Amino acid sequence: MQDVDVRDVTPAPGTLEPIETASRDELTALQLVRLRATLHHAYASVPHYRAAFDAAGVKPGDLSELSDISRFPMTTKDDLRANYPFGMFAVPRERIARVHASSGTTGRPTVAGYTAADIDTWAALMARSIRAAGGRPGDVVHVAYGYGLFTGGLGAHYGAERLGCTVVPVSGGMTERQVTLIRDLRPDVIMVTPSYLLAILDEMIRQGLDPRETSLQVGILGAEPWTEDMRAELETRLDMHAVDVYGLSEVMGPGVANECAETKDGLTIWEDHFYPEIVDPRTGAVLPDGERGELVLTSLTKEAMPVIRYRTRDLTRLLPGTARTMRRLERLTGRSDDMMIVRGVNVFPTQIEELLLREPALSPHFQCVLSRHDRLDVLTVRTERRPDATPETAAAGAAALAHSVKGSIGVAIRVEVLEPGAVERSAGKMRRVVDER
Ligand code: DLL
Repeated sequence: MQDVDVRDVTPAPGTLEPIETASRDELTALQLVRLRATLHHAYASVPHYRAAFDAAGVKPGDLSELSDISRFPMTTKDDLRANYPFGMFAVPRERIARVHASSGTTGRPTVAGYTAADIDTWAALMARSIRAAGGRPGDVVHVAYGYGLFTGGLGAHYGAERLGCTVVPVSGGMTERQVTLIRDLRPDVIMVTPSYLLAILDEMIRQGLDPRETSLQVGILGAEPWTEDMRAELETRLDMHAVDVYGLSEVMGPGVANECAETKDGLTIWEDHFYPEIVDPRTGAVLPDGERGELVLTSLTKEAMPVIRYRTRDLTRLLPGTARTMRRLERLTGRSDDMMIVRGVNVFPTQIEELLLREPALSPHFQCVLSRHDRLDVLTVRTERRPDATPETAAAGAAALAHSVKGSIGVAIRVEVLEPGAVERSAGKMRRVVDER
């Protein structure tokens, strides 16, 4: 963890919700009641769940303890797609207060629906998340997540309002204006993807602003995988706390899990509203806590679109609680879909990020480009020279990166070093893998 010379983020006594510090027994008792109700609600109101439960020979009443959930069928993105747009809703359409949609780039989008009570729960969980990250009532919160069908902007917005903050709803894009607003409105908190925060940081420097001198105390960063090395980069260069937030539209949006700033040791999953499991991605078998696999989530309080054992495709593991009683998710390695297989070796962009950030002459902006030469797969890491590095030191950095990737991941890569600013930027989620095969 970086030594960040900003606000003390330890929660003041009495500021946490009682459930955040309840005993494991109280928590699991609550989960059991809520899980039963959710299974009944899904079975009674969503034809897909009724058919899937019937096919598996299970009834909601078969759940007598939490672990019985493993007898119920899992739900996939394909199930949501097959029921596009409103087939997974468990309430009449008239009770749906809002819809969002997933950012999926291929095929049909998946639509998520919320009742007014769901929006209320989400705002409360996002407020809890912002507080866990070190945000406080009265803070000015700059929201640079995109507003619209994407859940990031509105999710952050409602949460910050609920916590009692002053919200600046900037949305993503227009990077010059982002910096102007940070300089003039003096936000305490910024909510943005880590890759876009890097772009904002570059723009601060371009405008002659010292990023360490801005008003920012806390960054609540997520919607894409990032690494401890990226945290160190952002905390050092911006002199603020950089804290991880996780969520997905199918399950709610941001605020399913959030890191506690006082420990920065993974994301506390808000277990009073979501029941997590880790499964073997190949067999679907439930794995014990501590083992790495695919995160599967069941909602415990959702009205409009309960999800039963939703396969997130996100890879992580469950760890015991530290700052809270609730369990933690280890920082996510990435999605199974983002895994590159290069000559038989599995590679995640986060592994590349980790090693890239150790090369001081290379910029943290990068993409993994997959191509085919002579019928062999080639992985090219496309990055940039840092503005303060010479082309010679950058070339040496590229050679060192190729060497460290070969040494620690076991795959030969090419490194392409472009001039500062030449790697594609994104105002939201960064496209890390470019497949040109
Ligand atoms: O990305 C919700 C969100 C908005 C989360 C703002 C955090 C902040 P989707 O567009 O549905 O929703 O994409 C969800 O993004 O399954 C993960 O693969 C990835 N993801 C989200 N947060 C993290 C994170 C929003 N902290 C998908 N670390 C998820 C790694 C993340 N991956």
